[in-house]
Amino acid sequence: MHAGPVSGRLPLLPCVVLYWFLSMQQTSAYFGLTGKEPLTLLPSAGLSMGPVAEKAHLKQCEILKLSRKQKRLCRREPGLADVLKDSVHLGLVQCQYQFRNERWNCSLEGRTNLLKRGFKETAFLYAISSAALMHSLAKACSSGRMERCTCDDSPDLKNKEAWQWGVCGDNLKYSVKFLKNFLGQKKVSKDLRARVDMHNTNVGIKAVKSGLKTTCKCHGVSGSCAVRTCWKQLSPFHETGKLLKHKYETAVEVYSITNDATGEPELASPRKVNYSFKNHIPRSTDLVYMEASPNFCRPSKYSAGTAGRTCSKETNCDSICCGRGYNTQTRMVRFSCHCQVHWCCYVKCQQCVQEEEIYTCKK
Ligand SMILES: *[C@@H]1O[C@H](CO)[C@@H](O)[C@H](O)[C@H]1NC(C)=O
Ligand SMILES: *[C@@H]1O[C@H](CO)[C@@H](O)[C@H](O)[C@H]1NC(C)=O
Repeated sequence: MHAGPVSGRLPLLPCVVLYWFLSMQQTSAYFGLTGKEPLTLLPSAGLSMGPVAEKAHLKQCEILKLSRKQKRLCRREPGLADVLKDSVHLGLVQCQYQFRNERWNCSLEGRTNLLKRGFKETAFLYAISSAALMHSLAKACSSGRMERCTCDDSPDLKNKEAWQWGVCGDNLKYSVKFLKNFLGQKKVSKDLRARVDMHNTNVGIKAVKSGLKTTCKCHGVSGSCAVRTCWKQLSPFHETGKLLKHKYETAVEVYSITNDATGEPELASPRKVNYSFKNHIPRSTDLVYMEASPNFCRPSKYSAGTAGRTCSKETNCDSICCGRGYNTQTRMVRFSCHCQVHWCCYVKCQQCVQEEEIYTCKK
């Protein structure tokens, strides 16, 4: 069942995302873009696009490590480079938050090597990256930042107003279609790792889709619901992150089998049935992996190890520090105390100082 390093194509999506992230520091200064600009800076309508903005958008597509087809899609859709940028930030922050108490803390160090393997962590990276891209894309669609997004299922004005800050069904359909095209999912690869990567990418997309909720608001007289406005809204991304973290914890090990009927390779996982093992096709909502993860304790090509990591004495120092023990430092923390409310209307506090202990893993 143990699958060694598997050769094949480089995983596309997270690499794109990684390179983009790494190059952002320089390029954002160069373009003067931070991703927070009013969107008129990168107008989606071709006619109103000034030569400078147009150049910037095309240049951004060039800098991204994209396939030829992805570059074409990027050039054609002026909002896309921004969406990619947003999604990198979203995915990275969420990954680091979800793994803040694990030995592997989702740092960028060693990531390129991780992405070439078939660990649970690799699975999570694929899923969180595609989920973040899907989320950013759907948000960009519903806020009108993507030229080709439509929302045909809400033609009247009331719904139009609603979908300005929600997501309509078509946004999501468009986003899935666009993403699958962008990631080149039409080709069915025979390479096991490519299949695993694709599977996990789709788990991420599904996780975002499953978080879509319909919310309604009543406008009737005295609470009656005579007029209702409804819209669809994605769950906050941290909920998607939490869901994917759970899937990481319950990820399923897979290997490749040949389907007797079609002769095509497919993913299978062993499951115990009546004291013997049978092949099962993993569910499309399960994260899958091919090999046991390293322990991430010591510096390796996959991580910096856990020396110097801060931990919590009560809960996770033993596990994060891999039994090497931890150093204890004290520092003084200031906080407000003895607060009194003065009539009217302010609160007066004193400054207190307290000692706080910080624990960091030994080398
Ligand atoms: C497991 O064994 C029981 C009793 O021997 C049998 O009825 C059942 O069909 C078996 N299940 C499978 C999935 O083979
Ligand atoms: C992850 O851990 C390393 C030490 O192993 C540390 O240098 C780094 O700051 C941590 N990153 C985050 C995001 O916590």
